[in-house]
Amino acid sequence: MSFPISRPRRLRKNEAFRSLVRETRLSPAGFVYPLFVCPGEGVRKEVRSMPGVFNLSVDEAVKEAQEVKSLGIPSVILFGLPESKDEQATGAWAEDGIVQQAARVIKREVPGLLLMGDVCLCEYMSHGHCGIVQKTATNRSVGAASTAQMSGVDEYEILNDESLDILAKTAVSQARAGMDIIAPSDMMDGRVAAIRDALDDEGFENIPILAYAAKFASGFYGPFREAADSAPAFGDRRSYQMDGANLREAMIEIELDLEEGADMIMVKPAMPYLDVISEARRRYDVPLAAYQVSGEYAMIKAAAQNNWIDHDRVMLESLQSIQRAGASIILTYFAKDVAKILG
Ligand code: PBG
Ligand code: ZN
Repeated sequence: MSFPISRPRRLRKNEAFRSLVRETRLSPAGFVYPLFVCPGEGVRKEVRSMPGVFNLSVDEAVKEAQEVKSLGIPSVILFGLPESKDEQATGAWAEDGIVQQAARVIKREVPGLLLMGDVCLCEYMSHGHCGIVQKTATNRSVGAASTAQMSGVDEYEILNDESLDILAKTAVSQARAGMDIIAPSDMMDGRVAAIRDALDDEGFENIPILAYAAKFASGFYGPFREAADSAPAFGDRRSYQMDGANLREAMIEIELDLEEGADMIMVKPAMPYLDVISEARRRYDVPLAAYQVSGEYAMIKAAAQNNWIDHDRVMLESLQSIQRAGASIILTYFAKDVAKILG
């Protein structure tokens, strides 16, 4: 008498069996490591809410990039903390902008490492929004208004089409500086088409676009805004980033970005949106990225520091879930940690 007939535990007996039948194998080969570049020399300033993540001057960013490459991680994504901010986001597209400087030097010093440029304006705008702000209430200056005054829905507007020109300029200046991949994260409508057009016009028709296609307005971006000094001075990003309740709309966003010429698509954040990753994988046959964002990283670091969870185990499990859901490219602050473990 044999009961039960099916015994899934037969294949879980020991690590050799488990390894043999494993469906998802984590590897740093699809990882992208974010770098935050700041002015100065010899600067290596830890982000308070992101242990192990630093604001790095260009010389230090080069060292970091070297380490990343030597660990078998193929790519870094660059974010910038400019010397100064204004309402044109000049620092985003200036030829000697901080990210452009970093890209030029890293390209030279660490050949073979893929440079990804995050294209957005929030880090470079004095108001911290991802596009041009127009106030719609009278007798109020945007710069001087308090958060409370400005948080009303019809007191300011993020201008879509006007912002596209700056985004396109930014993408072109990043391509000139040597970026291998352009990754717009602003969530303005039509930005992929505008960027594709501008890149092609300047002879960069072979530079691919990774679109942050389904980017949700999320509380999980908190630590990043400290790292990149990019929190909006008033209001929030809900009029351009997606509502977290919407899966079908995420598919529309992806579809539009692909129609506009995106070569790869991204879902962000990752773990709270695994269903979105999974549905995108099922529907679209393009490389699919997921961004395990700052808050996802900070939560694991904080709980592990308290010995409430096992750092390495939870880190690997979180990344495995993202890969299992269907992402083949993962942007993660854990990239170096994982590469060291999997070595
Ligand atoms: C800029 C940008 C953000 C992130 C990546 N690019 C922040 C935001 O939209 O406020 C978040 C990354 C993270 O939290 O790790 N648009
Ligand atoms: Zn932004």
